[in-house]
Amino acid sequence: MNKLLKTAAILLAAAAIGTGCGTRSSPTTPTPTPTPSPSSTSPAPSASPSVTPTATATPSPTPAKTPAGTKTGDAIQVVAAPESITALVNKQFKLPDSYAPKDLVYPEVAFIFSEKIEKRKLRQEAATALEQLFAGAKKDNISLAGVSAYRSHATQKSLFESYVKRDGEAKAKTYSAVPGHSEHETGLAIDVSGSSGKCAAEDCFAGTPEAKWLEAHVHEYGFIIRYPKGKESITGYQYEPWHIRFVGKQVAKDIASRGITMEEYYNALPVSQ
Ligand code: DAL
Ligand code: ZN
Repeated sequence: MNKLLKTAAILLAAAAIGTGCGTRSSPTTPTPTPTPSPSSTSPAPSASPSVTPTATATPSPTPAKTPAGTKTGDAIQVVAAPESITALVNKQFKLPDSYAPKDLVYPEVAFIFSEKIEKRKLRQEAATALEQLFAGAKKDNISLAGVSAYRSHATQKSLFESYVKRDGEAKAKTYSAVPGHSEHETGLAIDVSGSSGKCAAEDCFAGTPEAKWLEAHVHEYGFIIRYPKGKESITGYQYEPWHIRFVGKQVAKDIASRGITMEEYYNALPVSQ
């Protein structure tokens, strides 16, 4: 499709740690050796990972290209380039333990709370794109508000643990990421609601004018709806029309036009556990 795809370099860490990501736990399985992506000229479902869409300082994405049909087990792999705006972080791919993004800023957009606190932050590039997204929504008479953006590892840990206490581990894992596995820890994801805050990060947000606007337009600003409806068995999470992830315009448009998930984009394993 474009020559950038041809230059894709897969930088997946070979490190595998020995815990399963679901309730199961299985022996550590070595990661497939990273291989250069074959070139991709069409939007086939197994298209290879795209890399840096532009010649910026942004590093390449990191996911493995898993051979089609080959199951590698439940080994969790460590994201090799967590600072990449296209890094795949999910139930299979975790952030390095010490990772914290370095360029967090406060995007100048409304939030449903007023405090200048951690969860208001995003990485610089994502923050700028979010400001443009909110301005674009406003032009269409859609008033958006941020709900929750960056979370430190410690915050994700306490959040996840509170959900486990409330709903049990299996249920919690359908809507909340185990610490180290949350896109919120990358500073590239944010939950968005309408400015009233009604149904913020709740199922009733689905179908609202704000949700519909996000669905139709976020890719224009370099974001994707990360956990789409009907893709739960691939992403491993319930439909979250409010959770948008910055990946850059080129990748976002590609993912949106093909109606796929980030997992499919990288031909990674489904992470349904
Ligand atoms: N709700 C998403 C999956 C998270 O916890 O990162
Ligand atoms: Zn979220």
